[in-house]
Amino acid sequence: MTTEVSKNIHLITVNDRRKQLFENMWPIPNGVSYNCYLINDEKTALLDTVEFGSSAMFEAQMETALNGKKLDYLIINHMEPDHSGEIQNVLARYPDITVVGNDKTFKIFEAYYGVIENKIVIKDGDTLCLGEKTLKFVLTPWVHWPETMMTYDINSATLFSADAFGTFGTLDGCYFDDEMDTVAKYEDEMRRYYSNIVGKYSNMVQKAFAKLAGVEVKAICPLHGPIWRKNPAKVLEMYDKWSRMEGEDGVVVAYASMYGTTAYMADYIARQLAQNGVRNIITHDVSKTHISYLISDIWKYKAVVLGSCAYNTGMFPMMENLTREMQHLGLKCRNLGIFGSYSWNGGGVRNLLTFAESSGWNMVGSVDMAGKPSNEKLQELDALAKAVADSLK
Ligand SMILES: Cc1cc2nc3c(=O)[nH]c(=O)nc-3n(C[C@H](O)[C@H](O)[C@H](O)COP(=O)(O)O)c2cc1C
Ligand SMILES: [Fe+2]
Ligand SMILES: [Fe+2]
Repeated sequence: MTTEVSKNIHLITVNDRRKQLFENMWPIPNGVSYNCYLINDEKTALLDTVEFGSSAMFEAQMETALNGKKLDYLIINHMEPDHSGEIQNVLARYPDITVVGNDKTFKIFEAYYGVIENKIVIKDGDTLCLGEKTLKFVLTPWVHWPETMMTYDINSATLFSADAFGTFGTLDGCYFDDEMDTVAKYEDEMRRYYSNIVGKYSNMVQKAFAKLAGVEVKAICPLHGPIWRKNPAKVLEMYDKWSRMEGEDGVVVAYASMYGTTAYMADYIARQLAQNGVRNIITHDVSKTHISYLISDIWKYKAVVLGSCAYNTGMFPMMENLTREMQHLGLKCRNLGIFGSYSWNGGGVRNLLTFAESSGWNMVGSVDMAGKPSNEKLQELDALAKAVADSLK
């Protein structure tokens, strides 16, 4: 069985429902797919491979797609091991193969697999003719590794986009957006993938967009998740929005609480936000929800309200972890409110304020309180919620 994206372009895909943590860090409750593509023209080319250990499924699909021919080229758009894992097997099976990549590809390649003689080192904009099809290479460094590139099939206007436009979630029978009633289940996961793995390099994503401006794209073939063939413009728009760091109207309330005081304040603020007309509110306990979901939601919405109890003169460790990650990722353009509770000299709110300064986010207001909120303090929380709601206008 083989699946054609369009004439002579075959999708080869392997689902991973076993792995708990992608990159040993990101929970993948819906699994993930590793995709690669085989072009069977006068010459044949494999674009990337799959995760190591998928050989049986991978080889069976490749044999079918090759239909008795030998493999002429291996084009490497991305060297991360979830895609380069089967390279050694491919080299062993097809010893005459020519490997195609850019100079940075081969630096990484040779560090893992040794020097290779049969290679073509391409530069940005170079082309490779396979017969009917001519492939054009577009260097997209740091989306999200230094060697990352995309390959464009001029003949069918198909963009092989590497990790860009990829998402967590296995391919459950429907491989193409046009085969599904809705792609909704992939959208949140695409943003979680983007914000956590690619988001730090958003400026490089914008540079990639600039390079692709005006290029006709009929199909987007990423290394994870569905192929976007019905409406590729939709995922291009999503990526454009996320990499510009534009938030949607809505608020993420994330809190750290041991004994419930800060949690109570969080629910109170969330309710007040709704009373002030905010229609998209997500409240998270940072001790319960994996940080990747927090980051994804903060990437989605324009305003964030962070709350932490005081903990050993600082913030609660899970909140500290979240603020450190946000700093590391460099997300911009968010409106921020802060709150928390303490028993003696505080620490939660004080340290959140330090984060606020270094983040460059628009500071809307903060409320710190000893113990439980008094009526007066509740009024301060009302004012904070109103200010956050107003900041969306
Ligand atoms: C392990 C631990 C460390 C704490 N450290 C501080 C602190 O450094 N400064 C402070 O004012 N209160 C400190 N507190 C008190 C809590 O911040 C305070 O009880 C607060 O109201 C707890 O909020 P919560 O109910 O949301 O957990 C600490 C409490 C615990 C259990
Ligand atoms: Fe990657
Ligand atoms: Fe990947």
